[in-house]
Amino acid sequence: MTLLARARRGVARVVPCLLSAGFGLACAQTPAPGPHRPPIEVPDTLKQRLQACFACHGPEGRATPDGFFPRIAGKPAGYLYDQLQNFRGGRRANATMSYLVDLMSDAYLHEIADWFAALDLPYPPPQPGAAPAELALGERLVRRGDAARAIPACVQCHGEAMTGVQPSVPGLVGLPRGYLVEQFGAWRNGQRKALAPDCMAQVASALSTAEVAAAATWLAAQPVSAGPAPAASLARPLPLECGSVPR
Ligand code: HEC
Ligand code: HEC
Repeated sequence: MTLLARARRGVARVVPCLLSAGFGLACAQTPAPGPHRPPIEVPDTLKQRLQACFACHGPEGRATPDGFFPRIAGKPAGYLYDQLQNFRGGRRANATMSYLVDLMSDAYLHEIADWFAALDLPYPPPQPGAAPAELALGERLVRRGDAARAIPACVQCHGEAMTGVQPSVPGLVGLPRGYLVEQFGAWRNGQRKALAPDCMAQVASALSTAEVAAAATWLAAQPVSAGPAPAASLARPLPLECGSVPR
């Protein structure tokens, strides 16, 4: 079965259960046919309801090795909440994600974001093996940017340790190279937008394809220490204004 088919089957199985949650209904799995088999009662906890998410995002949202579905475990709560709102508001385009969040209240989205944000789970090992020149270019862009072209350093917004900043800037380490490159592509072609003014759209359009590849390669090659908690606050002023970062 393909990955997507597997994910779809998981969704078909758990979405009715997930949706029943908002109405306080008990969530029972369909029993196997045959005599003397009472329905299996599944506890109605948030974690149980979020099984629907694990079908794509991996156990407890820690992502799967293929790198297609993003990790959501341990990202800042404000960032996760913003993304759920972005799928609902059409700033991000993914049919399943939009379908899921359309049916949920803002309060429930906050609850979900808080649950995933509080997780402290191990990250996959780094992806090494790039040419030294590409790694050097990537590191320079991430740590220093390019002043001559008015491109700010990634660390100015994502934190010196690149682990993100509370409440709404995500970390850049521990993410697969393919996912990082894909996000830049989505910003450049308008598939992904953040709250205006969209600083990441500006950063993404200022970098060349080779520079994006180099930054992603270097970031994905960095080892992640245990529990890379987001930094508490950002140094002000930001190099560009970001609608998703509270002033
Ligand atoms: C059918 C698969 C599927 C299911 C089920 C699913 N997601 Fe997603 N989710 C995705 C994909 C694919 C993306 C990336 C979309 C994109 O690139 O815009 C995504 C993106 C996200 C993001 C943004 C992550 C980031 O780092 O920017 C969040 C948050 C999220 N999902 C939460 C959830 C939650 C909570 C649930 C359960 C209620 C859920 N997802 C269920 C496929 C799924
Ligand atoms: C001016 C501040 C700023 C700068 C500079 C910046 N970013 Fe961002 N970045 C953000 C914000 C804010 C978000 C969250 C956007 C949203 O809510 O969708 C973000 C999101 C991202 C994401 C999405 C992460 C995810 O989990 O989906 C990636 C990837 C990213 N930035 C990479 C970079 C890289 C690489 C650089 C340097 C080349 C960089 N950013 C420079 C502010 C910045």
